[in-house]
Amino acid sequence: MTFDPDNKSLLVRGGQLLTPNGLESTDILISNGLVSTIAPNQTAPSECPTLDASGQLVFPGPIDPQVHFREPGGEAKEDLASGSAAAIAGGVTAFCEMPNTNPATTNPAALQDKFARAKGRSRADYAFFLGASPENADQLGEWERVPGCAGVKVFMGSSTGNLLVEDDDTLERVLRSGTRRVTVHSEDNPRLSERYAALTQQHPAGAAVALHPDVRDVECAVRSTKRLLTLAEKTGRPVHLLHVSTAEELDLVRERDLGDLVTVEATPNHLFLTAPDCYTEFGTWAQMNPPVRDARHRDALRRALVKGPVTCIGSDHAPHTAEEKARSFPDSPSGIPGVQTTLALLLTAVRDGWLQYEDILRLCVTGPIKVYGIENRGPLSPGLEGNLILVNPDLTGPLRADWLLSRSPCNPFIGREMAGLPTTAVLRGQVVMRAGIPVGPARGEPLSFA
Ligand code: DOR
Repeated sequence: MTFDPDNKSLLVRGGQLLTPNGLESTDILISNGLVSTIAPNQTAPSECPTLDASGQLVFPGPIDPQVHFREPGGEAKEDLASGSAAAIAGGVTAFCEMPNTNPATTNPAALQDKFARAKGRSRADYAFFLGASPENADQLGEWERVPGCAGVKVFMGSSTGNLLVEDDDTLERVLRSGTRRVTVHSEDNPRLSERYAALTQQHPAGAAVALHPDVRDVECAVRSTKRLLTLAEKTGRPVHLLHVSTAEELDLVRERDLGDLVTVEATPNHLFLTAPDCYTEFGTWAQMNPPVRDARHRDALRRALVKGPVTCIGSDHAPHTAEEKARSFPDSPSGIPGVQTTLALLLTAVRDGWLQYEDILRLCVTGPIKVYGIENRGPLSPGLEGNLILVNPDLTGPLRADWLLSRSPCNPFIGREMAGLPTTAVLRGQVVMRAGIPVGPARGEPLSFA
């Protein structure tokens, strides 16, 4: 059959489909971009290509709900084309991008600018967050409804960029404006400012990066999360705790027991790196906000992935240039790339026995869908979009730097043994990645939300 670039039909034959109940040997027929049949022994209708999935697992399209792709204003670190290519290469078929670009995404015009930039250049499906500030707090309820907007993002603690909502009065205004889940970087800014001031006074010429988790300490995270949970309960507004880094916050979420009002994200960085070794081994390439902490926190996060309350995984892909990362701490920027390596790390955790494939489905597909109300996707079933990846669990080897597509080379997982890799990605019935390499034109489209 000749190749038709507009053909959105595909028969995925011979794979093991990951469902909420485990792996199922079945074929999947996609017609006009939508799943039409899930049953064994299908034959391809005429004009429908076949994708041989034998020996491979078939996952519904994973969603990364937290990436920073830097466009506009930081294109030397990443842009929507390079970031989305890294996503697709790593098997991530959709992403939600954060508002701390330059300018920050704080109004509908800035959102529309990002949609215009993504069209025809993003290889994965996309959505963009609106950043909250004291100036726009009362308008967010109207603006969060812009189609394709992932919702409102709050920085309670300052990080890359200048977005900040540091006091409870402004935070309450944000929470009272609108109804969608508000997503929050939770670190207490007054405490952070004090501790950075003390650090630079003690170490005017730069300090050891191993001090990062002491500066942005457990109390910074816990104090802020307590404030947030109190305000979520007071206002009844659902909130999402991004990149939780402490065992204490997980306990807090359990103790406060606010049900669906609070959802929780973990990042691979906090699950697969450990202080103090990561700072010795990788220096500022292990520096991110909130910081990687010791094994007690990592183990609590791993347990919380499986038993709750972690709802989803976001990479917090936060690229910086090697030159910027080479500055001495604390002038070195926080954040590392990760959108391409999340799934390989999680598949390795399955091989190592502390995670199951069904957990990956929950954390990378149904979790983000539930947290943000994403429509038209989920565990594959007729009528949903035909977005999926093939995974080869038997591909093992060290993570190769030359496979990575982010503009930031500062990935501390390079060289680590991985067990399992996404090999093919399909977006609405069209193959968009083969053998870990994006193929064809950029086919990403905006996500839609309930
Ligand atoms: O380490 C981080 N880097 N944490 C954030 O919250 C922001 C991110 C960035 O954009 O660089």
